[in-house]
Amino acid sequence: MAILPIYVAPHPVLKKIADAVEGGVTDEHRKLMDDMLDTMYATHGIGLAAPQVGESLRILVLDVAQKGDIDEGTHEKGTPMFFVNPEITWTSDEQNIYNEGCLSVPGQYAEVERPEKCRVKFLDYDGNEQEVEMEGLLATCIQHEMDHLNGILFIDHLSTLKRDMLMRKLKKWTKMNADDIAETHVL
Ligand code: NI
Repeated sequence: MAILPIYVAPHPVLKKIADAVEGGVTDEHRKLMDDMLDTMYATHGIGLAAPQVGESLRILVLDVAQKGDIDEGTHEKGTPMFFVNPEITWTSDEQNIYNEGCLSVPGQYAEVERPEKCRVKFLDYDGNEQEVEMEGLLATCIQHEMDHLNGILFIDHLSTLKRDMLMRKLKKWTKMNADDIAETHVL
């Protein structure tokens, strides 16, 4: 178990297109996924993409069903999910609006509209190919995390005016809360 440092905007690793994992899922990738999951839980996240820990690879972890609070010792894992080389194969016409946050944009939140449902093809923790349909928070979360693999942050979905405002607030927030990280439901 290792808690990895989280890279915060505007770090350049967050703007890169992440590399596909070639040659299947190895123990090294599984170690990274385990560490990412621990890091996500420790920082109250529900999703984390490898570029957020400085690894420019197409790897994500999610758990939208966890309970309790890790700082109070009441945290319970829900359903940890691991995605290698995820690809969206379908999205619904229906849209959903969620007040998103991000471990790489700490302390900042904004409403983002995305398809309510999606289908995702990926390699799982054991390297097996899967295709899963998702909806609700899970669908929002995977789309947010997949954006990270393409160098896109949730603030990039906002108007320039709103994005600039959040980036200014982030600068202030980062100065004031250097040791702290945002609350629940950060993606
Ligand atoms: Ni994020």
